[in-house]
Amino acid sequence: MTSTSPPSNHEASQAALRAAEARFIANNPLSKAQHDLAVGTLPGGNTRTVLHTSPFPLSMKQGRGAYVWDLDGHKYLDFVGELSAGLLGHSHPVIHKTFLSTFDTVGLSLGATTVHEHAYAALLSARFRLARVRMANTGTEANLHALAGARHFTGRRKVVVFSGGYHGAVLSFPDGKAAPNTVDRGDFVVVPRYNDLQLAREVIESVEKDLAAVLVEPMQGAGGCIPGTREFLVGVRDAAHRQGALFILDEVMTSRLAPGGLGVEMGLEPDMVTLGKYLGGGLAFGAFGGRDDVMAVYDPRVEGSLAHSGTFNNNTMAMCVGYAALSEVYKPEVNVAFNERGNRFREKLREVTKGTRLSITGRGSLLGLHFTEDGMEEITCGEDLKGKERRDLRDLFWFEMLEAGFWTTRRGYIAMILETPDEELDAFLAAVKAFLGRHRDIMLV
Ligand SMILES: Cc1ncc(COP(=O)(O)O)c(C=O)c1O
Repeated sequence: MTSTSPPSNHEASQAALRAAEARFIANNPLSKAQHDLAVGTLPGGNTRTVLHTSPFPLSMKQGRGAYVWDLDGHKYLDFVGELSAGLLGHSHPVIHKTFLSTFDTVGLSLGATTVHEHAYAALLSARFRLARVRMANTGTEANLHALAGARHFTGRRKVVVFSGGYHGAVLSFPDGKAAPNTVDRGDFVVVPRYNDLQLAREVIESVEKDLAAVLVEPMQGAGGCIPGTREFLVGVRDAAHRQGALFILDEVMTSRLAPGGLGVEMGLEPDMVTLGKYLGGGLAFGAFGGRDDVMAVYDPRVEGSLAHSGTFNNNTMAMCVGYAALSEVYKPEVNVAFNERGNRFREKLREVTKGTRLSITGRGSLLGLHFTEDGMEEITCGEDLKGKERRDLRDLFWFEMLEAGFWTTRRGYIAMILETPDEELDAFLAAVKAFLGRHRDIMLV
């Protein structure tokens, strides 16, 4: 009798992954055909790198409420939530009504200042405690303008950021370095670990007199939904101030997590805040604001002030739809209840995944899913995960959650949509449990 030893954990996960990928290919012929067509025009068939997945991405045909349908007709609960910009879902009646009424009674961009931009700026100012606000088109732009403002205000150039920080398409800092397409790369100094106050202080102090600003997310979003501690964020702010630099809080992702964003919730009192995503009610949007004296660098009545241009900065549709989204739908009490739901959901997921290679981070309605060799639960920064990540398990999970009817990001990020029914959250918990049961051998630590 010949005996064969059982497959190693990695061999078994590779085999399961190959099988899952084969089923994905067989189940999605129309998405595959669409990808084959798209590569002829778009490099890699893609115009947003984050949405590329191999062997090909699913092509979505329609969204309604908290659901999306792909070209092959599969229905999914939408847990991607447009990377947090889709908070209100795909067809909220208030958004629908405001689209139509803006079109009918205001018209598209008017090439002039309007009452709508002021109304929305006043609402953002009150909600996020910003003395002055300006609008932009994306979160990336909001950060670029905030940094330009900080540089003008201080007369300095350098900016301290954190490894794993993502501040936009041309402002990202993975693995302790400015990404190759980051603008003004030489002006950024990257702290090698998020949540490490001692290290942050040393780096901030090392920049000496040319430091214009420290730019930080109160929870690293793209970096894995890793919350910053209050002690860390307050310490970073104080260190920035000791150097005469501004403390800029990037709340493009996190402003949804508390009625005034995490800056207000945690009492951080930033000099400037940047906003975006869901605050456009589903349309392209960005905004930045903060201290009166700092934002005054953008006052066109003052000689020598900075110009802040942008054809669509005050486009009527985003101003009116964003205003309706924040004033009629995502009211403070709705915000609080929604994020409490998110916290309960995360706790249940944590219980279900205890003792496995899947661990859950995040805050409120934003969740990070991490697959590591030792199932580590305390994750304070991306560097904690180095050398431990199990991409094979992450990919296997992604393929199998699609089969169970859940549209999540492959990198393991969930942004809940307001309208998501409780039964769907329970169904996801059951799907995760089933996954862990099916793959006990490779998922148990
Ligand atoms: C924290 C943070 N800042 C800035 C941005 C950039 O926003 P946008 O994609 O609208 O340019 C993002 C986008 O994911 C983000 O998460």
